[in-house]
Amino acid sequence: MFITFEGPDGSGKTTQISPLSDYLIQNGYSVLITREPGGTVIGDQIRQVLSDLKNTGMHPRSETLLFLAARAQLVEQVIKPNLEKGFIVLSDRYADSTMAYQGYGHQNDLGQIKNLINFATGGLKPDLTLLFDMDVEEGLQRKADGSEWNRLDAYSLEFHQRVRKGYHILAESEPQRWVKIEAGQSPEKIRAAIREAVQARLITTAGS
Ligand code: TYD
Repeated sequence: MFITFEGPDGSGKTTQISPLSDYLIQNGYSVLITREPGGTVIGDQIRQVLSDLKNTGMHPRSETLLFLAARAQLVEQVIKPNLEKGFIVLSDRYADSTMAYQGYGHQNDLGQIKNLINFATGGLKPDLTLLFDMDVEEGLQRKADGSEWNRLDAYSLEFHQRVRKGYHILAESEPQRWVKIEAGQSPEKIRAAIREAVQARLITTAGS
């Protein structure tokens, strides 16, 4: 099973991945955690180029292709082989980030972005996607208070609001794949909501 964590910046999704992994391991599953952009040596080099605050001149199309290049490497080198071994793969962001940020955020042609994603991933889609939804300004403030302010975070508030709206549209268009988590709740409630969503999916998968 392939599970992805998505949401606007500062939604707190990253801190929820390890607790879910621990829980799954306690229940006898083998788990692999990865993140985007990055997750491979090549992908981590691309991540640096994408994140660098000095790269203010990066064109949105170059940005899109770099995210996809990192993903193509990750899919082939890490995600597919581990799914084939029977692992549950948890990824901090995946293709829906490209739809939300490069598609809705930059207002690029969504059909073209979808085709590029298909090319980069070979069509690999998550079985379950958790959307950590929260107010955009609150999320950016959280991130600004932390340590990892990057080139993408510095885009306008309107950009980030389009990203959030984009996530809502994506989730509504494929309700069987997405589960929305209110990211403003207490960490305990968030953990419980995640477990519930994952358990439901594991039961469905086991029965099919
Ligand atoms: P990161 O610091 O990892 O942010 P987060 O902790 O919120 O995941 O930076 C990744 C940034 O890249 C984040 O702003 C989202 C953005 N992004 C895209 O724009 N497109 C993509 O395809 C991916 C994977 C990430």
